[in-house]
Amino acid sequence: MADLPILEMRNITKAFPGVIANENISLDLKKGEVHALLGENGAGKTTLMNILFGIYKADEGEIFMEGKQISISSPHNALKYGIGMVQQHFTVVPSFTVAENIVLGLKGMGFFIKTKTVESSIEKLGKSYDLPVNPRARVWTLSVGEKQRIEILKLLYTGAKVIILDEPTAVLTPQETEILFKAMRKLVNEGSSVIFISHKLDEVLEISDRVTVLRGGKVVGTEVRDSVDRRSLVRMMVGRDVLLDFDKPKTEPGKTVLQVENLTVKNDKNLEAVKNLSLSIKSGEILGIAGVAGNGQRELAEAIYGLRKPVQGKVVLNDKILRHTDVAQRIKGGVAFIPQDRRAVATCPSLSITENVFMKNSYSMYLPQSPFNLNTRAMQRAAKELISDYSISTPSTKTQARFLSGGNLQKLVLARELSTKPCLIIAEHPTRGLDIGAMEFVYKTLLAHKERGAAILLLAGELYEIFRLSDRVAVIYEGEIMGYTPPDPSFTEEIGFMMAGSKRGEIS
Ligand SMILES: Nc1ncnc2c1ncn2[C@@H]1O[C@H](COP(=O)(O)OP(=O)(O)O)[C@@H](O)[C@H]1O
Ligand SMILES: [Mg+2]
Repeated sequence: MADLPILEMRNITKAFPGVIANENISLDLKKGEVHALLGENGAGKTTLMNILFGIYKADEGEIFMEGKQISISSPHNALKYGIGMVQQHFTVVPSFTVAENIVLGLKGMGFFIKTKTVESSIEKLGKSYDLPVNPRARVWTLSVGEKQRIEILKLLYTGAKVIILDEPTAVLTPQETEILFKAMRKLVNEGSSVIFISHKLDEVLEISDRVTVLRGGKVVGTEVRDSVDRRSLVRMMVGRDVLLDFDKPKTEPGKTVLQVENLTVKNDKNLEAVKNLSLSIKSGEILGIAGVAGNGQRELAEAIYGLRKPVQGKVVLNDKILRHTDVAQRIKGGVAFIPQDRRAVATCPSLSITENVFMKNSYSMYLPQSPFNLNTRAMQRAAKELISDYSISTPSTKTQARFLSGGNLQKLVLARELSTKPCLIIAEHPTRGLDIGAMEFVYKTLLAHKERGAAILLLAGELYEIFRLSDRVAVIYEGEIMGYTPPDPSFTEEIGFMMAGSKRGEIS
């Protein structure tokens, strides 16, 4: 009995037009285990769990619960079997209280329960799993971490025994992740089972009892925690060895390249997103800005690059004060921008690769005898060279940018922005959504430019990436810098406190 898996998926296949998202996947879940589902973007993790939660129907395959075959037709149906899922995007209603949200979720299941009863049970449930929430708080006042706790409590309240968490740590501070992991441990100790989806190796190694790795819609293998390490997991995920842990090149910082003084910038809602912020970066130096997304990173990057008009403050490049919202002046001054939205902001999807490469410096490609004719042949030749230098996989230079995968599109952006040897690089989430192979390429490219003497402002959500690349780490919270630390994982806790809003000053 103890060996019988609580849940088993057998030979699951699911195709979408043009892609087989899950191919003959088998997975079993034991009672009382944290089972990690690890894989790169697009490996098929969410699809598989959407099938288990009744959101999609598999084309082929079977699901068994405690040995009995079941058919799951909808999320409500899944909950009746005791299977619950916290999706990547939460489903709570902001203007309702915590308890009201939970009652709302139960209505569809045919329960009739008083909000007051739910309030006290939620409080108790939260206490017993170390998931503290105030059931009377309005959801809009809560942090992302608290909203996630409500989603989990909602599932526990309905009696879920199998809890699926889809990339739950992507939006959490290190402390919130700790709280979540403690609760996960408690859950499995009480006899529940957890499927933990992630693409972060360290987290998988920390929390899981077993790991199943998916690649390209197939299972590469299922291993117990103690028989794997970072290296073997990467190899399973990617299919080859990848060196993400290379050393930073040692460079002596040179003269100050970028100076930002007392910058205040409003966001699209006309609220101050960056508040009186100052920073400086020297030649050969990478300053990493850590912070939960939405704390002013985007507005800061856009104001420095001239895409957004600051309310006050100065941006100084190589001792020259830049005019606000003058992007051309920045391009000529040698500033490169790698924005987080590569489909809508960084590239023009319906233009060819060549056109995308040259859209910023086409003036250098005019034929001398006629200022209106672009030297298209020279452009094609140069584009070909960049395609090979940056190993962009594409059928031709004339292919439209929208047909490139995320990784290749990002290489295209890097090719355009970095081939002119900029003195300042603003890199906003440069590896978000990329696979490990493309990530390795981006890291190496940025470090090579640091070694060449570029100053780099790195805005990233993942601390791993910040530590990997930066020389100094600044933590941003609600548009202000809370403090600086060295780029060392031993400062994770300090950084976490600062990410949640406590000021620390300089730590070294
Ligand atoms: N609703 C859908 N329609 C079409 N294709 C989809 C859909 N959902 C996922 N896919 C595709 O299936 C593959 C696996 O996606 P997904 O399960 O989301 O991967 P993961 O969660 O591991 O990142 C990807 O190629 C993705 O583009
Ligand atoms: Mg997913």
